[in-house]
Amino acid sequence: MDISLYLLFKTILIGIVVLIVYAVVKFYLHVRRVEARFKGIRTPPFHWLLGSFSQFPKDPTGRILHFIKICNEYEEDGIVFLWGFFRRPIVIACTPESMARISKSNAPKSRGLMGVYRMIEPWLGEGLLVANGQKWARNRRLLTPAFHFDILKPYTNVFNASADVLVAKLKSKAASNDRFDVFQNVLLCTLEIILKCAFSYEKDIQQSGDTNPYVKAVNRITDSLFHRFLYPYMLFDFIFYNTSVGRQFKKDCNFVHSVAEEIIHKRKKALDGGENVALEGKRYVDFLDILLTARDEEGVGLSSLEVRNEVDTFLFEGHDTTASAISWILYSLAEHPEYQRKCQQEVDQVLQGRDSDFVEWSDMPKFEFLTQCIKEGMRLHAPVPIVNREVKEDFEIGGRNIPAGSIVQLNIWALHHKESVWGPDHMEFKPERFSPENVDKMSPFQFVPFSAGPRNCIGQHFAMNEEKSVLAKLLRNFTFRLDTSHEVKKNPSAVMRTVDGMFMYVEERNA
Ligand code: HEM
Repeated sequence: MDISLYLLFKTILIGIVVLIVYAVVKFYLHVRRVEARFKGIRTPPFHWLLGSFSQFPKDPTGRILHFIKICNEYEEDGIVFLWGFFRRPIVIACTPESMARISKSNAPKSRGLMGVYRMIEPWLGEGLLVANGQKWARNRRLLTPAFHFDILKPYTNVFNASADVLVAKLKSKAASNDRFDVFQNVLLCTLEIILKCAFSYEKDIQQSGDTNPYVKAVNRITDSLFHRFLYPYMLFDFIFYNTSVGRQFKKDCNFVHSVAEEIIHKRKKALDGGENVALEGKRYVDFLDILLTARDEEGVGLSSLEVRNEVDTFLFEGHDTTASAISWILYSLAEHPEYQRKCQQEVDQVLQGRDSDFVEWSDMPKFEFLTQCIKEGMRLHAPVPIVNREVKEDFEIGGRNIPAGSIVQLNIWALHHKESVWGPDHMEFKPERFSPENVDKMSPFQFVPFSAGPRNCIGQHFAMNEEKSVLAKLLRNFTFRLDTSHEVKKNPSAVMRTVDGMFMYVEERNA
């Protein structure tokens, strides 16, 4: 062999060995440093390189239940410490105190490998859900008026109209005594609602849902996010975008963007044509009107891209979440006929003596027991089970020093099932937990379906009113019964879904 080639080869080899030794020493020091911070704290079993999640049950229902187990068994000082992939420190906040501590901080959303925020960015861009820092703060200020009660009030027309379509669909199921998937039907209803409220998209989604190209694209986008969690190798972009699902995801994002852009362009033109031209003749001001007219302290509005990102964000956050909440609440009511009856009696009482079943804005506070059931349903099933933050600087929780770079998981699901907070019967549906006397005794951070602190859900009042309107309509018309031949299993992704559907029967009331 040529001597110079030999020397080159030797140098490269030495270089590789030095790099490996450096990486191993660095890795070892990192592990020791993190271990020192969590000295004395018990950790659930973990694989030395793949971390703790590799030791979790493989099936989605088992995984989500496992969080309850470890949070009840291993929690110390408000946290459970886990090792992530390649020994990344992960801290689960699962008590009201630790939840308060991290929710009130300005720790950003994590956009790392496992972060749902990174995966949805090609669709939502830097919309409110994904953005961090100054950009988030400015846009949150600009968007807050969109959720003012005066804006939300007229949406009751939309809630009623879409719930009526759902009722008509279910009447045919009642007549034929066919079982049906509650989740899929409710999902089309909530998608129709948010499309109307976001930008007055008036197409008939619930009847044409399976064929409408926009709905098909949105459904495929959300399904593909879900797919990436089911098959973790898909978390790597270079793999995902080279699969047929990834390529379709890209195509669907482009299509959904083009639809939104066209609507925004038309509305902008109308608004530019005269002060309130776009609003005249319309029954309600939609989110798009607010976004296009919002101005910051310097009189600067949102750019076209920012408007599109926010419209898409409302769409994403505003339909899967409410569909999950409504479906799981119906599930618990079907499981507990006595509570279902009590809700029906209350709805009958509120709506009695009227010509129609229109649920008015002023009815919302009258649904007291229904609201207790809604809250208990959101506690028990946690429509958004987990959200993540990343601490950029060393951070203290419960006297523990959490190193910079750790992921802090706000595990809403585990907090809602913490035995020390909710008692040993935390898996049971008990609406009385939310009676006014019991609510008075609660910590503000023990029930947080909409998260808490500055990055809480901006759409929570919208969501609560939508849930009440749709549920009141459904319970006024039907009694729900579970299909006992089919086990409903939880499947946590960005929202709490089911593994293979939530099948029920309905019976028309007073039929
Ligand atoms: C039952 C229904 C809903 C639940 C359980 C829910 C839950 C949540 C949670 C837990 C977060 C925090 C997410 C995080 O930290 O990553 C959040 C944020 C958000 N939600 Fe909701 N949500 C619901 C409905 C809605 C609706 C109807 C809208 C819009 C119309 C909406 C818009 C948003 C937005 C824009 C954010 C980001 C807020 C920010 O970071 O400033 N949500 N939601």
